[in-house]
This record gives sequence, C-alpha cells and structure tokens, in this order.
Amino acid sequence: MFEPPKKQDSFNRKLSELHDEVKGWLPSINRIAVALYDRGTGVLKTFIHSSDDGSPLDHYQAKLAKVKSLQDIADSQKPRVINDLTVLKDSKSIHTRKIVQQDYKSSFTSPIIHNGEFFGFVFFNASEVGYFTDSAVHNLSVYAQLIGLLCITEFNAIRTLQAAVKTAREISQYRDEETGFHLMRMSNFSRLIALDLADEKNLSDEFIEYMFHFASLHDIGKIAIPDQILLKAGPFSDEERAIMKTHVEKGIEIISKMVDGFQMEHLPKISMLKNIVQCHHEAMDGSGYPQGLKGKDIPLEARIVSVADVFDALTSERPYKKAWTNEEAFTFLDEKTPNVFDLDCVNALKRQRDQVEEIQQRFHEDIIG
Ligand SMILES: [Fe+2]
Ligand SMILES: [Fe+2]
Repeated sequence: MFEPPKKQDSFNRKLSELHDEVKGWLPSINRIAVALYDRGTGVLKTFIHSSDDGSPLDHYQAKLAKVKSLQDIADSQKPRVINDLTVLKDSKSIHTRKIVQQDYKSSFTSPIIHNGEFFGFVFFNASEVGYFTDSAVHNLSVYAQLIGLLCITEFNAIRTLQAAVKTAREISQYRDEETGFHLMRMSNFSRLIALDLADEKNLSDEFIEYMFHFASLHDIGKIAIPDQILLKAGPFSDEERAIMKTHVEKGIEIISKMVDGFQMEHLPKISMLKNIVQCHHEAMDGSGYPQGLKGKDIPLEARIVSVADVFDALTSERPYKKAWTNEEAFTFLDEKTPNVFDLDCVNALKRQRDQVEEIQQRFHEDIIG
C-alpha cells in the first residue's frame, strides 16, 4: 500500500542542480542554503543546502529575534550583501563564526517573502571578498526568488492538506484531543526527537522539517470514524474499539484521495506522511496495529511520532483524565520501552526536557483566545 521512504532528499538535489547552474557564471559561489522560519515558535531552522565542502550549519536552529542582523533583514524584507565576512571573525554569534570559519569571504542573503509574510532566507556565500557586485546580486536575485518560490509552493501544498483536514474535522464535530494545542505540541516534540537523533541516525534537516509538518496529520483517519464512537466518554466495547482502530486504514485512504485531488504526487516526502499515518500505532515488539510490524520494520518517522503523541496525550488534560506531570509521563514511557516504544526516541525526548517544557509553556491550553 505504501513504499518505503526514499533515501535521497529531492529538495536538496534540486538545490544542488541550481547551484551548479549558478557556478557556470559565478564559479566562486561555494554555498547556497535555505533556512525556514517557524512563526509558532519564532525559530529559524536550517533546511537545505548545497555546499562545496562540508556543511557548517546542519541541524542548526536559533530564535530569529536573537540574531539581530537576520531579524533586520526579515523586518525590512530587503536583501543584504556583506562583501567582507572576515571582519566578522570575532563575532559572538555561533552562526556567524561557523560561517566565517569556512571558506566564505562574502555573502548575499535574500529573505523569502510571500504575500507579505516572511518564510525564511536564501543564503549565497562566495570564496572571494567583494564577490557580490551589483550585477551579480541582480542576477542572483532571480535565483533567490525561484528557490523561495519552490519552498513556498511545497509548504503551501502541505498547508492546504492541513487546512482541509481541519475543516473536515470541524464538520464532523470532532472536538476532542486533536483540537487545541495537542497537534502543535506533538509535532514540535517530534521535531525535537528527530533533531536530537539527527547525528546518530544521519537525518537531514529536510527529513526533520517534513517530519515536523506531517506529524500533525497522524490521526487524519479519525475524521472518518462515526461521532458516537469518537466522542464517547465511557470505555469502548470490543466492537467500538475495533472500529476506532480502523482510523489508520481510513487515514491512508484519505491521504491517497487528497494526494490525487490536490495533485500532490510531486511532494517528495509523501511516503513519509503515509508511513506516519500507517504505522503510528505499531509497537516495537509487534503487538501494535494494524500490521503488527516489529522494531526497525516500523519506519523511524512513525516511531518518533508515537512517542511524541503519547507523551503529549499523557501530559494533557482530557475530559476523562487529569494531566500527568512530565515525570510521570517519562516513567510511563520507560515502563513501555523497549516493548512498545523505541528506546532511542524515548531517550532523545528525555534529553530535551528543557525544550519540552518551553514548548509546553508556549502552547498551553489556557492561553487559547
Ligand atoms: Fe492514531
Ligand atoms: Fe494524537
């Protein structure tokens, strides 16, 4: 029903092709990179890059408000040229220092703006001082626009999908745990886990970004479950539980229909979305559903989402239960590991406690207006 995730990162490949093209006439451009901005958390995150040697900034993120020079570009919505980066070699910012330590002598930074909204940046670096002349900037601006547009188109398709699901949910009166900030928190927790495991499991920033956007769609199939079961306050009968479990298959059907309807076949990571929907109730020992997959046969993205989802469900208040403390929820995860949950994913979440708390504070139910 679904194919395994493709190893290559297609977006990165597109960027490398554009980089080769640019080098045809500007050979000293040794890096093009894209960082994306998340309005929910105010965080700027590395996304894709094409670099001649190494990648100085993989898995890097920072609060945009704390990187003043970039915040200025985002506010003014105007590109910036620095024709001699060597003057910044003693900078306090890790980001700037890492850039200067590479063979990057000058830079051109262009904000990605769509309908007045700031999306992120396209960075061009060159190995020569003074490389970004007016005519170079003029020509590169076209590439910056193109790269920005590719990103916007890609994520608009995902947003459309998320909006369609939200609407369908509202029509179906489905108002329990998937409303409020649960989805925001669990997708941020999924991202935290992926980011923590990035070096160990060789995960690209592109993988992590898609993981973040797709995590919130894990229970998309619940919109096809009858309200009397979905909204039932008391315990389920066996039959009701069996119907509830079909939300996984229904989810896959819905994704396939939406992908056809919205012509999203081109989305490079659609198989990752399918894996999340299909496998988020699988358990490491094979006792999960619907396929009873075991261990590493469960795609990593699904193992991550199941830890993030359960952790947030436990630590949230629901009509039928009080919110558990983080401590209690971690203890529960420990008890169910390695039988149900992946040990690496649980440990990753535990290592990121500070960030977990920050996300919980930022997306707290009480502050819904
Ligand atoms: Fe589910
Ligand atoms: Fe959930």
